[in-house]
Amino acid sequence: MTSAKEESFLNDLNLTLEEAWNLLLQGAKDRHSPLHTPAIGTVTAEGIPSQRIMVLRDVDRDNHRLRFNTDVRVSKVADISESAPVSILGYHPAAKVQLRLTGIGHIQQHGPIAEQAWNEASLYGKRCYLADPAPGQAVTVPTSGLDPAMEGQKPTAEQVIPARDNFSVLMVDVEKIEWLYLAHTGHRRASFIWDKEAIRWDGQWLVP
Ligand SMILES: Cc1cc2nc3c(=O)[nH]c(=O)nc-3n(C[C@H](O)[C@H](O)[C@H](O)COP(=O)(O)O)c2cc1C
Repeated sequence: MTSAKEESFLNDLNLTLEEAWNLLLQGAKDRHSPLHTPAIGTVTAEGIPSQRIMVLRDVDRDNHRLRFNTDVRVSKVADISESAPVSILGYHPAAKVQLRLTGIGHIQQHGPIAEQAWNEASLYGKRCYLADPAPGQAVTVPTSGLDPAMEGQKPTAEQVIPARDNFSVLMVDVEKIEWLYLAHTGHRRASFIWDKEAIRWDGQWLVP
């Protein structure tokens, strides 16, 4: 990031929002971006906060929607069920930006988005969804959950077919973006709330 670019968004809410989306878009595309693996927070049925790292797979800026892939048998899927609030937190050290997003999460196991995500996944990626017993189950011996014959080798397309039953996508409709930019001249903090009626983001500076 150039200093000229820094200057451009430092005191401009619209450019700050642009920068936030650019960082998210880059996060989905570039596996080396720290925003490729944000922390995703849900709340359990008992009301306990629960976070985990997930790979940000896709960013649809127009529909302010993010996509993650997940095993349908894991606890975050139970937390979200039909739909539930989700938080997304990432920090990009080179950009000096913390992004804290909130939105509504939906799990989709079937349908065109899940189908496309499955088709785009690598064979190694698909293999993760073969774990048996399911992820998070207690076991008496250390295990990957995979059949030992499947470990240490690239699975075939045929071998990963049963994994599709355990695969789903988590779609998050982002409703709020909170931005924190660290600058030695003075930090900047802003919040952007999606206004459904006006179909636009309402930006507001905050004291950092
Ligand atoms: C770098 C990294 C990337 C991960 N990516 C994903 C992912 O894309 N989807 C996923 O469900 N879990 C992913 N995990 C595993 C989760 O952090 C978590 O351990 C697992 O999904 C079980 O979470 P839950 O029981 O809270 O649902 C990743 C973990 C790490 C360390």
